[in-house]
Order: sequence, then structure tokens, then C-alpha cells
Amino acid sequence: MEPEQREQKLKEAIKAENIPHHVAVIMDGNGRWAVERGLPRHEGHRQGVETVRSTVRNCSELGIKVLTLFAFSTENWQRPISEVNFLMSLPGKYFETELPELMRNNVQVRLIGDGKKLPGRVQKAVKDGSEATKDNTGMILNFALNYGSRSEILRAVNNLLAEAKAGSLKGKVDEKLFSRYLYTADLPDPDLLIRTSGEQRISNFLLWQLAYSELWFTDAYWPDFSKIHLMEAVYEYQKRKRRFGSV
Ligand code: IPE
Ligand code: IPE
Ligand code: MG
Repeated sequence: MEPEQREQKLKEAIKAENIPHHVAVIMDGNGRWAVERGLPRHEGHRQGVETVRSTVRNCSELGIKVLTLFAFSTENWQRPISEVNFLMSLPGKYFETELPELMRNNVQVRLIGDGKKLPGRVQKAVKDGSEATKDNTGMILNFALNYGSRSEILRAVNNLLAEAKAGSLKGKVDEKLFSRYLYTADLPDPDLLIRTSGEQRISNFLLWQLAYSELWFTDAYWPDFSKIHLMEAVYEYQKRKRRFGSV
């Protein structure tokens, strides 16, 4: 089937009343995409930014309310310094060119992760992007940068402990209260998790929040992730029966 035909078919099949509210994406495979083309790995990251642009637009068009993109993990510091530096140059470039489009599409940008450990220029780029879009009422776009779920959970525990010590926390901690201490505090859990590049693991992403998310994997590398892949994931999501432990 031609891609245009496939897109049309998916468009007709996707039900507007059951669009996942929150979609989380592990954007993986940039390096392999480049190496398979005889290019240096950073070319894959550069192309990956283009996919971020199109995916943000496509998700917003589909009516997704929250999109969380895993862009840099707490473990990714282990990569060669030249690759880390290249990755750290991307948020600035992204916001520089994409801000008008984000404003036009009414997208609100947020950071999840330990921002304080990011280079100053990255902190500034994300802060400026968040500031500029903070009154937008459309899709919330979370960039997970220097994000690790175990560290997020420990941060929550330590903040709770500090409040208990100070006497401002009374009684037991329940799931609802604990969730409020995570970076995703006021957001519903992801309904759908997408991971590209054929890997089928969570890699320290949203361990608490993904408890009941539907998982969808594709062999496509992130730079090749298209609107059709996104629509296929949503279509498949709509066919799942979510039980949440019930029958
Ligand atoms: C995803 O692509 C981008 C980041 C993790 C920052 P990778 O760089 O992990 O690409 P592969 O998995 O090595 O192909
Ligand atoms: C997960 O991808 C992190 C991001 C997409 C930012 P990795 O490429 O770092 O994950 P592993 O090492 O294959 O588990
Ligand atoms: Mg990878």
C-alpha cells in the first residue's frame, strides 16, 4: 500500500474519542540510523531533532494532550564526551528555530529531569522555551533531559523525608501523594509508551508512571519514525483492552 493510502486508512480507522491522553516516547536508534548510512552518530541525532519537530506537530494534530519525550538519560553521560557535547547543543538549536511553531500550535514546554546538572546554556534554552510557552493551553510537551526514573523516585523520597522531619508532613504517604513529588506531579500517567529501534526495555524511564501504560514497539529507528508509525501506535492502542487488574 502506498504511504498516502495507508495514512488515509489509519485516519479513518482511528477513533477521535479514544486518543491516548498522554503519550511517552523513548526516542531510540539515532546512532544506528547514522552508522548504517556510513555517517557519524551525531548525524543521527541531528536527523532525530527533525523527527522531534514532526512528531510534536503530529501529536498535537491528533489531539494528544501530553507528550513526554525521553531525550537524555542520567546514564547517557557515559557516552563519549564529543557525543554528549553534541547532544547538549541540540535543545538550544531546537528552541531557536521551533519556538514560533510551538507558539502557533499552542504547545506548552516543560522539563522533567535534574535540570541543575545540565550545562548552563541548556538550562537557559529550556527555561526560556518553558517561560515563553507557559501560558499556552494546548499540548504539554515534556522534555526528559538528564532524566532517570530511579533518581526521580529517590528525589521524591528525600523530599518527603525532609518534610516529615520539618513536621509539615503528617500521616502516611499514599500513591496519590507520592505521585505529586515526581516531576510529572500534576499530569496523568502515560496511556501509551512508544519505543523505537527494536529494543524492548524501559531503560529507567517513568518506572512509577508506566505501571499500567500500553507498550508499543517498532523496529524503525527514531529518525525514520513517521506520522504513519504514530498513527499505527494509536490505532493499536485503541484495539487494546485495558483492564487495570479488573476483568
Ligand atoms: C537515541 O538514540 C538518542 C539518545 C539516547 C540520546 P541512540 O543514540 O541511543 O542510538 P542508538 O541506540 O545508539 O542507535
Ligand atoms: C534510552 O536510550 C534513553 C533515551 C532515549 C534518551 P538508550 O539508548 O540510552 O538506552 P539503552 O542504553 O539502549 O538501554
Ligand atoms: Mg540507544
